Amino acid sequence: MTYNARFRIWRGDDAAGQLEDFTVEVNEGEVVLDIIHRLQATQTPDLAVRWNCKAGKCGSCSAEVNGIPRLMCMTRMSTFPEADVVTVTPLRTFPVVKDLVTDVSFNYEKAREVPSFAPPAELQLGEYRMQQVDVERSQEFRKCIECFLCQDTCHVVRDHEENKPAFSGPRFFIRLAELDMHPLDTKDRKREAQATHGLGMCNITKCCTEVCPEHIKITDNAIIPMKERVVDTRYDPLIWLGSKIPRRSSTAADKALGSGQNAQAEQHARTRLREKPSDRTARRALADALRAQGQFAAAAEQTRVLVEQAGRGRGARLDALSAHAFALLTAVEAGQLTLDRVEDEVSTTVQDAQRLVSTGTVLSGTHALHHLVHGRLAEAVSHAREAIAWDRDRVARADDLVTLSEALAGLGEDAEAASALRESRSLWPTNPRLQAASVNLRSLGVASS
Ligand code: SF4
Ligand code: SF4
Ligand code: FES
Repeated sequence: MTYNARFRIWRGDDAAGQLEDFTVEVNEGEVVLDIIHRLQATQTPDLAVRWNCKAGKCGSCSAEVNGIPRLMCMTRMSTFPEADVVTVTPLRTFPVVKDLVTDVSFNYEKAREVPSFAPPAELQLGEYRMQQVDVERSQEFRKCIECFLCQDTCHVVRDHEENKPAFSGPRFFIRLAELDMHPLDTKDRKREAQATHGLGMCNITKCCTEVCPEHIKITDNAIIPMKERVVDTRYDPLIWLGSKIPRRSSTAADKALGSGQNAQAEQHARTRLREKPSDRTARRALADALRAQGQFAAAAEQTRVLVEQAGRGRGARLDALSAHAFALLTAVEAGQLTLDRVEDEVSTTVQDAQRLVSTGTVLSGTHALHHLVHGRLAEAVSHAREAIAWDRDRVARADDLVTLSEALAGLGEDAEAASALRESRSLWPTNPRLQAASVNLRSLGVASS
């Protein structure tokens, strides 16, 4: 059905301009870009507008329709009452070139500041391998059409030109997250996001997610996971303070752990704890040393104290809770504690940890092991795969692979189980969980070495 609509369009350039009123014909099925083209053809031949595909794929026709950042080619006229005035203005965050065309070169400058994909030097072209789950995770971010609507709506730069040098914006947070999730990328993208691209200025209002025409969950899937991974070390005041205090035995314990001298690490940590029982770094080193020696139940006693001492700081508390849940579960897996005895404690610890994370992925490795000790193998596989996609820490990844291997073996997926165990061994050859897992696999007739 044809009707005459009232349009108000911004005309001018970066120096000056005004809204001008037009009455223009609208036909059934048309979008805002059709009306702008009709105006060009019939009333305002010099009206500037940028567009290319008219299919929501090139990201060129971004503008603000009734104040909301939209693609003009994807905004149906049928969404507005016929009597309403439809106002079309250029993107507010960027300088106007003319009428509805803005200069978005800010985004290209920021794009150049993101170092490109950096694979390990020892790999040659053609040797890159990644699992399907890793491909799928970053696929969402690759849907970006660079329309910059998210950049336009972000309040950090929308009315704050002064923030632009320090803040790259949501489009580049998804680019950094994509690289961060790539299993072969060797750069520390989280720190880069924080230090160079202003991740800390984002206060996760989710406005960027709301306007994304590709429905990319920018905040939930890119920004929050990256924030979670930098927050522990950077913003937890106790960890920061702890890092400033000299602790000889504590440091010695950490060093010994790093070089695989677990018994020595245990001694250093115990010495330090005799001097200062509240030293959480030493307590964590002791728990890690015990665990690395296969003393899982003793490690769980230490992580229990860590939880009690963690206070209310989010990062330290989450770290202690997840370490404790994992320690209890490994003790059950190794037969050092019974599931009956610790199940309530495990569930409460996991629930408390869950409350502190915004995405379940942080606890995937723990969930996987929890399902495994309950014999829920398919769930264990699914969580372990998710954990492997996320865990970049060598030790955590090695543990996730052991869990995956055991669950797969139980499901009869022998080849994949053996391959996961081999990969785990290459990451952490002395992991005491490996021994038990190898025995289990052998008893199932699976060759893992
Ligand atoms: S969530 Fe962050 S990046 Fe997205 S619009 Fe809000 S402040 Fe900007
Ligand atoms: S993330 Fe979405 S809104 Fe932002 S530039 Fe890409 S497609 Fe556009
Ligand atoms: S013209 Fe290509 S997205 Fe609108």
